[in-house]
Amino acid sequence: MCGIIGRVGDGNALETLLTGLENLEYRGYDSAGVAVQNGSGIDVQKRSGKVETLIDSIENESLEGAVGIGHTRWSTHGPPTDENAHPHTDSTEDVAVVHNGIIENYAALRSRLQDNGYEFTSDTDTEVVPHLIQYYLDGGLENEAAFRRAIEELEGSYAITAMFSGEHVLYAARQGSPLVVGIEDGEYFLASDVPAFLEYTDSVVYLEDGDVVIVDEDGVEFTDLEGNPVDREPETVEWDPEEAGKGEYDHYMKKEIHEQPTSLAQAIEGRIDPENGRIALADFGPGTFADVSSVQFVACGTSYHAALYGSLSLNQAGVHSTALLANEYSVAAPPVDDETLVVAVTQSGETADTLSALRQARANGAYTVTVTNVVGSTAAREADDALFIRAGPEIGVAATKTFSSQAVMLTLLGQRIAADRRGKPPADLESLLPDLAAMPDEIERVLESSDAASIADRYRGSRSYFFIGRGLGYPVALEGALKFKEITYEHAEGFASGELKHGPLALVTSETPVFAVFTGDEDEKTLKNAEEAQTRGAPLIAVCPDDHPAVEIADAHLEIPDTSAALAGLLANVQLQLVSYHAANFLDRPIDKPRNLAKSVTVE
Ligand code: F6R
Repeated sequence: MCGIIGRVGDGNALETLLTGLENLEYRGYDSAGVAVQNGSGIDVQKRSGKVETLIDSIENESLEGAVGIGHTRWSTHGPPTDENAHPHTDSTEDVAVVHNGIIENYAALRSRLQDNGYEFTSDTDTEVVPHLIQYYLDGGLENEAAFRRAIEELEGSYAITAMFSGEHVLYAARQGSPLVVGIEDGEYFLASDVPAFLEYTDSVVYLEDGDVVIVDEDGVEFTDLEGNPVDREPETVEWDPEEAGKGEYDHYMKKEIHEQPTSLAQAIEGRIDPENGRIALADFGPGTFADVSSVQFVACGTSYHAALYGSLSLNQAGVHSTALLANEYSVAAPPVDDETLVVAVTQSGETADTLSALRQARANGAYTVTVTNVVGSTAAREADDALFIRAGPEIGVAATKTFSSQAVMLTLLGQRIAADRRGKPPADLESLLPDLAAMPDEIERVLESSDAASIADRYRGSRSYFFIGRGLGYPVALEGALKFKEITYEHAEGFASGELKHGPLALVTSETPVFAVFTGDEDEKTLKNAEEAQTRGAPLIAVCPDDHPAVEIADAHLEIPDTSAALAGLLANVQLQLVSYHAANFLDRPIDKPRNLAKSVTVE
C-alpha cells in the first residue's frame, strides 16, 4: 500500500525524506511527493511515476527545511496523476497531509466542504483531510485542535501525517493502517514501516489504533484522540540496515531468494531439538494446543499458499484443518468454537483481508495465532499469540524468503499441535527433524547448482506455463505459477496434478511447458499426469531429485536434494523462484516492483 515518511530535526529534511521514500517504494510506486517547511511556508513537489521521477524533477529546486513529509502511492481513489499524488494541501497551502488507507466517508465530507466553498483539485479521498483541517482552522481552532477535530470525523482506515505552515511540528494519527515513530537524538521520524528510517535509528514505537502523536524537535507526545497521554515504549528493531539494502544483487528478489539459507536458519533456531527428537517451539506454553479440535488457516496470495502447505501437512499429521482465502472468510467461514484454532498467516501482519478474517474469528470465540514476519504488526498485536518467522526485511514485492519461512514454521506448528493433542510427538518426527536442520544447507545446494536460468531461457516465448504438483507439491505448484505471472506478466497456472485431466488438459500444446513438482506424495500418479501432458506435446520439466524416475522421461530437469516429503516442496519452490526470476529478467521486467501491485495490501 502507500508509504509515509515524516522527519523533524536539525538540518535539511529533504534527503532523509527521499531516502525514506526509496526505502518504502515497495509499498506503492504509482506516484510520489514531498512537502517541506521552507521558512515562509510549505513547499510541495509531487509527480506521477516512481520516486526516481520525483527526484529527477526536483533536482534543480531548492527545497530546504528541517521538517517535512513524503509519500509514495498505490492508487485507490483516482488514477496516478500529479494532482492525485500526495502530499495534499488545502487551497492556501497552510496544511499538508499524507495518508495511507481509505477514508470511507470522504464523499459526504467532500460535498459538505464544497458546499462551504472549499475547492478540490484531485480525485482522492485524502484531499478531504487538509480541507477539513482548514475548515476547523477557519472556524478559529488552533492547529492541534483542528487536526484532532478533523481526525474525529474520519471513518475508515488511515495512517495520517500532517504539518502546518510556519510550525516545526508533525501531527500524526493511526486507525487501521500501520504507523511507526523512529527516535534518535534530536531527530524523529514517522513512517508506515521501519525500513523507511532504519539507517538512522533502530529505536521505534509502533502506534496503536486511536493514537495521535505530536512530534517536534524536543520529542514525541503520545496521546489518544481526546488528547489524554498514552504510554508507548520504544522497542529496538533487530533488523540490520544492510539487510534492508540490495547489496551486490541487481534486484531485491534475487537477494531475498539467496537469503533463504540464512532466513530459514533464523526461523528454526532454538525451535527444534533434533538430538532429543523434539520440537521446542517455546513460543507457546506446554500443552497450549491440547484441546484444539480443528484448525483454520486464513491468508491471501503467497501466504495462502504457505497456509495451504501448513494445512495439508496438518491433515497428514491427523489433525482436521482447512486453509481459507481470508478475503472469502467473511462470506463463507466454517463455524468456529473455543476448540477451533484460527491461524492468520501474513508476512506483513497488515493485510486488510487477513486482519478482517482474524477479527471475525476472534469475535466468534476462536483461539487465534498469527504467523508473521513483523513484530509490532497489527496481526501480532491483535491475535491471541504470534509466531514470528524471523525472515528479516523483505522488500521485493514478490514474496520469496517469507514463503519458505512461513511454510517451515507452519510445519513445525502443525507437528506441535499434533503432539499436544496426542500427548506425544508424531511418529515421523525422528526423520523430519534432522532434515529440517539440514534445510539451510540443502537450499544453498539448490542455489549453487540450479539450471533455472537456462531452462527459463529455453522456454522463453511460450504461450502459457503450467505448474503441477500433488499433496504438498500442490501449494508449491500454485506458488510457482503465482510468482511466474506476477513478475513476468506471462500467463501461468498452477494445478493439482490430478486435476489436469479434468479440464486444463484441453489447453496443453507444445507451447505450454509443464513444470511438475515431485515431493514424494504419490509421485507415480503425478508422473502419469505429467506424461499425459507430455503425450499432448507439452515440454515436461521435472523438479525432483536426481535419481527420480521422472528424470528419465522429462525434457528438462531441475534437481532438488533428497529430503523428507514434508520439506521437498520447499526445495522445489526455490528452483521455481529462480525460474521466474530469470524469465522476468530476460523479459526486462521491473522485477522488484511489478506493475499494479504493492507489497502490503491494506484495503479489502
Ligand atoms: C505475492 C505476494 C502476495 C502476498 C499477499 C499477502 O508474491 O507477496 O500475494 O502474499 O498480498 O500478504 P501478507 O503475507 O503480507 O499478508
